[in-house]
Amino acid sequence: MAEVVIVGSADEAGDIAAGIIRSLLEQLPDAVLGFATGSTPLSTYRALAAQGLDLGAVRGFALDEYVGLPAGHSQSYRAVIDREVVAPLGLQPGSVRVPGDDGLPLQGAGERYERDIYAAGGIDLQVLGIGRTGHIGFNEPGSSLASLTRVKTLTESTRLDNARFFDSPDEVPTHCITQGLGTILRARHLVLLAFGESKADAVAAALEGPVSASTPGSVVQLHPRVTVIVDEAAARHLEHADYYRYAWDHRLDWER
Ligand code: GLP
Repeated sequence: MAEVVIVGSADEAGDIAAGIIRSLLEQLPDAVLGFATGSTPLSTYRALAAQGLDLGAVRGFALDEYVGLPAGHSQSYRAVIDREVVAPLGLQPGSVRVPGDDGLPLQGAGERYERDIYAAGGIDLQVLGIGRTGHIGFNEPGSSLASLTRVKTLTESTRLDNARFFDSPDEVPTHCITQGLGTILRARHLVLLAFGESKADAVAAALEGPVSASTPGSVVQLHPRVTVIVDEAAARHLEHADYYRYAWDHRLDWER
């Protein structure tokens, strides 16, 4: 079962997630990290930056990217990753890859990204958010649980959710390239974060509902090592919230 941690705020969640990443980097300074974009992981990246660790050996792979934005667009995930992750964490320029960033044709970019992740030794820890549709990465409902990195069509609901980052909803691309659910399952540790009431249904469906392509986030139930960190609002519809709190309060010394 996933370890579910229910916290009071996004900042508290960020501190816990950053602590998990720090422990990994103490063991493995050149760990390969999987970076999500969106608002949710920002407190984790801020907390990690505040720790002042030397992350010069870290390598990374972004989860997803829009297709069709002009090069250098401020809302491309390439630009977001550079702004929110690479610069504040002091990562080496070029150390974080984004799907489709190799300058080769889009067709085949998914397979090439998979090969590059494999060549890097696989992803040690993947940071994840979850969308209101239950998507992780940009794997919208209906995505194969075994899918690998590929081009997908965004749902209208996700485009509208993400319109807040753009000048107008029409500017949000219709397509994306995303790690698949199967790609995510290959990472060695998944850290899934969610905050706010708007995520409560998606979180409950992903953690406690049936494993189904209709709720892509439910694929985390198939993974042997998952840490879910949610605030009270996002945890609101979790049936076993009391047990998760109890298990966290009674974690053993070596789990702390
Ligand atoms: C976006 C991203 C996902 C992200 C999700 C939630 O569409 N592609 O990786 O987890 O939606 O976004 P946010 O964290 O801003 O709520």
